Amino acid sequence: MTKIIAHRGSKGTHPENTLAAFEEAIRVGADGIELDVQLSKDNHLIVIHDETVDRTTNGHGSVGSLTLKELKQLDAGNWFEKNPMSQKIPTLVEVLELLEKNQFQGLLNIEIKTDKIHYNGIEELIVELMSSRSWPFEYMYSSFYFESLEKVWKVDQSNPIASVFYISEKEAQHAVQSTFIKGIHPNIEWVMAHLNEVADFPKPIRPWTVNEAEQMKICFAHQLAGIHTDFPEKALKLREMV
Ligand code: G3P
Ligand code: MG
Repeated sequence: MTKIIAHRGSKGTHPENTLAAFEEAIRVGADGIELDVQLSKDNHLIVIHDETVDRTTNGHGSVGSLTLKELKQLDAGNWFEKNPMSQKIPTLVEVLELLEKNQFQGLLNIEIKTDKIHYNGIEELIVELMSSRSWPFEYMYSSFYFESLEKVWKVDQSNPIASVFYISEKEAQHAVQSTFIKGIHPNIEWVMAHLNEVADFPKPIRPWTVNEAEQMKICFAHQLAGIHTDFPEKALKLREMV
């Protein structure tokens, strides 16, 4: 069965990459949760998508130029007009503890956001945190930046690693040839352009961002391993019907 992975939490209904968005993903029963990780100025693992705080908070500046204390002063939820609420930017450990507290038993996809800024040591810090105790959920690593995946593999050979890309044929083939890569997370357009081949593709496929019902149905019909969606509740209802 195709896993429904809540993209940045339940991004379509709650401010992305906040505890509220992850709680909502758990509440609706998502099979998986995806989040993005970057590094603060003082080397804390921060859950945020953009390299700057400008779009998703009331602050300004790059994540890497702000300390955890400075990041924590920002409001990360009231910008979301559809459902504004007071939220803080979470750290990775805060999200892990939320999932643990809520007995989440699905799949956590940790996307290492290093494609634009290659944060020094972020891969080792993430693996160190993940290995520091046993979590009640499965987890995997992913990144657009292949070097991050290689670095993770050096320090964690126990948890799956997936390559994220847009529609590149070269990257799909690179992922197939790299034995340590256990899955691909392409843009949904890559899937639409390769519908005849996905059944025989040698590694699990979990595209993003699958928000339209028609595309969800296609992914379910082709028995893809998973989809990343901003609307996990909608996807779960649709999957029940098909
Ligand atoms: O990890 C899948 C997806 O999140 C990749 O795109 O830009 O939303 O992080 P983005
Ligand atoms: Mg992401």
